[in-house]
Amino acid sequence: MARPGVLVTCRIPTSVVERLEAACDVEVFAGPDAMPPGELKARLEGKQALLCLLTDRITADVLDAGRDLRIVANIAVGFDNIDLDAARARGVVVSNTPDVLTQATADLTWGLILAATRRIPEGERLLRRGGWSGWALDFLLGSDLRDKQLGIVGLGRIGAAVASRAAAFGMRVAYATLDEAAAGPSAADPAWARLGLDELLSSSDVVSLHVPLTPSTRHLIDRRAILRMKRRAYLINTSRGPVVDEEALAWALRERLLAGAALDVFEEEPRVHPGLLELENVVLAPHLGSATVETRTAMADLAARNVLAVLSGGPPLTPVRA
Ligand code: GLV
Repeated sequence: MARPGVLVTCRIPTSVVERLEAACDVEVFAGPDAMPPGELKARLEGKQALLCLLTDRITADVLDAGRDLRIVANIAVGFDNIDLDAARARGVVVSNTPDVLTQATADLTWGLILAATRRIPEGERLLRRGGWSGWALDFLLGSDLRDKQLGIVGLGRIGAAVASRAAAFGMRVAYATLDEAAAGPSAADPAWARLGLDELLSSSDVVSLHVPLTPSTRHLIDRRAILRMKRRAYLINTSRGPVVDEEALAWALRERLLAGAALDVFEEEPRVHPGLLELENVVLAPHLGSATVETRTAMADLAARNVLAVLSGGPPLTPVRA
């Protein structure tokens, strides 16, 4: 019997290729950049499975090109790059990679909280350009975290993991969930305060976003939301770029309506709003949330196991249910 064909749109660890090759014919796109959509469609011909990245847009058009596809395994927890309705209509299963990246993303979020509130990248830039003339009592002062409130928007796995680290920094936790059905309250520590979004925004010293990108979370943080926040507050985004209106954020940071922000995700990656690039009070990271060797290997491996499960007639380990 012919072995099923699998297309992988990026380089993945050898151990994961070997896992797939034990049962399938594997074609890996090894280009340095994202696979061009035309090439993706052409290479899908005759493939039963696709392992792809959040930078690959899996539209109805792409799914039509993969007429034999049985599964699209996203190597990401987010899946806003995939047209789920089109996949469902064509009987194609979609899976993602939850859990394995939760801790790495929560760690990165705390890295950004500390970088923004203690102005570390700003200090490094100043030092490298020879602008440091020595220790001074009032030099580059940031904000303490102790006894402040961390406001978590979206208490799924990653939001809860970020919240659970707050005690180490002496912060209180408040959270808002937008979707009653989300993992939220069951994941909550009784010491954390559940607030409505507006109240969370107006009472928190650091607001950290952990919602998926959906039509209702697009520009959740717009001018109106930002104006609710304290002028001494910080906004952290490690979720999806379009959850924040970058134009509004750049305006607020320029006008000092917020103390600072730290972003790991952007509206039109890899483009960053030019208004943000010129500001000192925003930390900009190139989508590094899950970027550790261990985590990225675990993500690719989970995606491969999802593929193998579906190709052998079972359900995926981590299906997207949306
Ligand atoms: C990263 O952003 C992911 O969704 O895994």
